[in-house]
Amino acid sequence: MKAISSIEDFNSRIKKIIITKEEIDEAIKKAGKEIDKLYDGRPILLVSILKGAFVFMADICRAVSVPCEIGFMCAKSYYEGTQSSGVVQITMDLDRDISGYHVVIIEDIVDTGRTLNDIVQLLKGRNPISLHVITLLDKPSRRLVDFTPDMSLFTIPDLFVIGYGLDCGEYYRSLPYIAEYSEE
Ligand code: IMP
Ligand code: MG
Repeated sequence: MKAISSIEDFNSRIKKIIITKEEIDEAIKKAGKEIDKLYDGRPILLVSILKGAFVFMADICRAVSVPCEIGFMCAKSYYEGTQSSGVVQITMDLDRDISGYHVVIIEDIVDTGRTLNDIVQLLKGRNPISLHVITLLDKPSRRLVDFTPDMSLFTIPDLFVIGYGLDCGEYYRSLPYIAEYSEE
């Protein structure tokens, strides 16, 4: 990724909005209802994978009515720009024992699938009552490991996307929509 030189340069890299704020809001309302139905009044622990899923977490936790606790883990897989390093690193772990919890992982995007594959293996080993994975975006054409989320709000083609928590070089997380990123 080339360094951003000005606000014009920053704005010019937001190539095209592919999912609007309204579409995201609508999908989250629906997902909240599905979660309520699935857990049927049982308390859940929402686990957001930082940093990318922080915006999605804030919205999804307000769209569910079942009693919910929230927790955070930090995983790093993309270090600079748009290329995956292939190495998944847990840089911050959960602060509690998850045995006894219905755990719902809240992720921004499933790309190669490596991050969630690793996290799911790790958390399963800690004996939660149940474990579900909900992702805002899914790029199935990029998968390198056999991983399927339990719920995906949008399936997208092989594009590098930014906004609604997703970054490029740590920028663009604050955009309220999902857009395609391009340096041209
Ligand atoms: P995976 O391990 O390849 O599935 O990658 C998952 C992580 O890579 C996500 O949690 C994101 O942080 C990041 N990532 C993958 N695709 C994109 C993208 O299009 N835009 C921004 N971040 C992405
Ligand atoms: Mg992420």
